[in-house]
Amino acid sequence: MNAPAAGLAIQAPAYVKNPKIVAWVAEMAALCKPAAIHWCDGSQEEYDRLCQLLVDAGTFKKLNPAKRPGSFLACSDPSDVARVEDRTFICSAKKEDAGPTNNWADPAEMRATLAPLFDGCMAGRTMYVVPFSMGPLGSDIAHIGIELTDSAYVAVNQKLMTRMGRAVYDVLGVDGEFVPCMHTVGAPLAAGEKDSTSWPCNPKVKYIVHYPETREIWSYGSGYGGNALLGKKCLALRIASTMGRDQGWLAEHMLILGVTSPEGKKYHVGGAFPSACGKTNFSMLVPPEAGFAGWKVTTIGDDIAWVKPQADGTLRAINPEAGYFGVAPGTNTLTNPNCMASLNKDVIFTNVALTDDGDVWWEGMEKDQGKLPDHLIDWQGRDWTPQIAKETGAKAAHPNARFTVAATNNPALDPAWDDPAGVQIDAFIFGGRRSTTIPLVTEARSWTEGVYMAATMGSETTAAAFGAQGVVRRDPFAMLPFMGYNMSDYFQHWLSLGAKLQAQGATLPRIYCVNWFRKGEDGKFVWPGYGENMRVLKWMIDRIEGKAQGQDTMFGIAPQYAEINWTGLDFSAAQFNTVTSIDKAAWQEEFKLHAEHFDKLAYRLPQALLATKAALEKRLG
Ligand code: GTP
Ligand code: SPV
Ligand code: MN
Repeated sequence: MNAPAAGLAIQAPAYVKNPKIVAWVAEMAALCKPAAIHWCDGSQEEYDRLCQLLVDAGTFKKLNPAKRPGSFLACSDPSDVARVEDRTFICSAKKEDAGPTNNWADPAEMRATLAPLFDGCMAGRTMYVVPFSMGPLGSDIAHIGIELTDSAYVAVNQKLMTRMGRAVYDVLGVDGEFVPCMHTVGAPLAAGEKDSTSWPCNPKVKYIVHYPETREIWSYGSGYGGNALLGKKCLALRIASTMGRDQGWLAEHMLILGVTSPEGKKYHVGGAFPSACGKTNFSMLVPPEAGFAGWKVTTIGDDIAWVKPQADGTLRAINPEAGYFGVAPGTNTLTNPNCMASLNKDVIFTNVALTDDGDVWWEGMEKDQGKLPDHLIDWQGRDWTPQIAKETGAKAAHPNARFTVAATNNPALDPAWDDPAGVQIDAFIFGGRRSTTIPLVTEARSWTEGVYMAATMGSETTAAAFGAQGVVRRDPFAMLPFMGYNMSDYFQHWLSLGAKLQAQGATLPRIYCVNWFRKGEDGKFVWPGYGENMRVLKWMIDRIEGKAQGQDTMFGIAPQYAEINWTGLDFSAAQFNTVTSIDKAAWQEEFKLHAEHFDKLAYRLPQALLATKAALEKRLG
């Protein structure tokens, strides 16, 4: 192991007035033995300096400022391209509190496993002290984290993704609470050794560990996305979900959007879709020109919502994040023009391809440009041409290639996105990626039925997580990889929250189940999706306003063909039937999968869900 950085001065800036932080940083520095400590102040000057440092190290390539000002491209190690769910652990004191859907390890044993890994893990590197707020600074619903990381890439990403910097210490004062977030790429350097790679990580050993009782996060070996930007999935979902369980609120894998009618009436929707299943796209939706003049969708958040019940029985939601870490492939001006406009400047791209004139490219951009580029450098640094792609199937961008960008770049940003009071939720939407079975949209007949729809949601796996792709798995509430506690207890938490609000006489948000991804016999998506999803959103609003009667189906209330505004879209009643029909045989199979899923969750599974299943099966029969 490397020589410890003997006598390394902690030298906290004078504005850090919280002795607990200074003591913790000292203790962690003694453990991790970095060569230096950098206390991030969150300034633009610091951001620019760290980006330059990453350019000098070869991690960042500065993009052509004439094409993409203030922007950089990073390409990761091929072993480090997505979240690692099988290396993610919930180390609650009791195994049953992690539940059957999580990897659990005894906290003491996990600490014993991690201690030698973290000992000297930052040798030869700088330890960045990254203070951040999830939620508006100083808001009573926000929570503060401090991430100690040996990755400058993480530090600059956190600047875009969170409210990061000096002001966080003012909020913390002398004794404020924070979630300690330990992160290392797990690649210590020997004395005098230089990195042999531009993306240091540990290709073999990875741990993403949560201690829910003590609210700590320890991440080892990866520098990518949710594995490393610890405010996001680790804090704002896994740790926050346990806070929500204890304190009576919800931490959800949901976009939040505002939708305003031509008359100026505004609704807010929370939408849970699994990773890479359309949250960013839906949150920035541009309504079709024909038939939707005057309608407007605005973004509050694209990935995470913290939803809190109010004294008046309403639910209000905030986006704890301040930026987007979004999927690049598939994004273009036809699918998501607001997103493309967000990416014009000041972006960090990861694992997309580089064009010969110093710009970026990913699969899907050819739809904007009318043709494929003649030549690129792919995300692994290799030559890419349309010919090579044709012969080898090589992708120019990794399917989980992403952009990091501040929310303030988004032209559709909602004026209330940063409001500490959040926005009032009128509807929840749950949607998986299903080639078959699940209809385009149905409305739950009750809160319990909605919870059932969410709890049994299945989705085909995507490149957002390491592992097999396109396999249907149950992803309840789109939270499978992000639950900090027992899934069955979480279902009960949702049911109890609804019951409590109803007892207060509140009108609960409607719950909808959607599926943009049903395929026809040709294997192609039948529903055009993207901006056209506005037609479904409008039907939901019509339902809320009592303007659409719908039709009762086995799986909730569905739209009648004539209730959807089809102006400007050629979508026949027969096509509509293909995406809305309820196939009896397919549903009999589907209910078998629900039964298997519930069997796994049997311990503490709410009886109400079993009763709902029985009622739905009776309807099908
Ligand atoms: P995470 O950031 O991983 O949580 O993903 P996300 O839920 O925000 O997904 P995103 O909006 O980035 O979309 C992921 C992929 O799905 C992209 O390739 C999109 O082009 C595609 N997609 C999004 N919306 C639709 C849709 O309505 N229909 C179809 N067919 N594809 C869509
Ligand atoms: C997801 O996988 O749902 C993401 C990307 O939003 S990551 O931040 O890597 O978790
Ligand atoms: Mn996500």
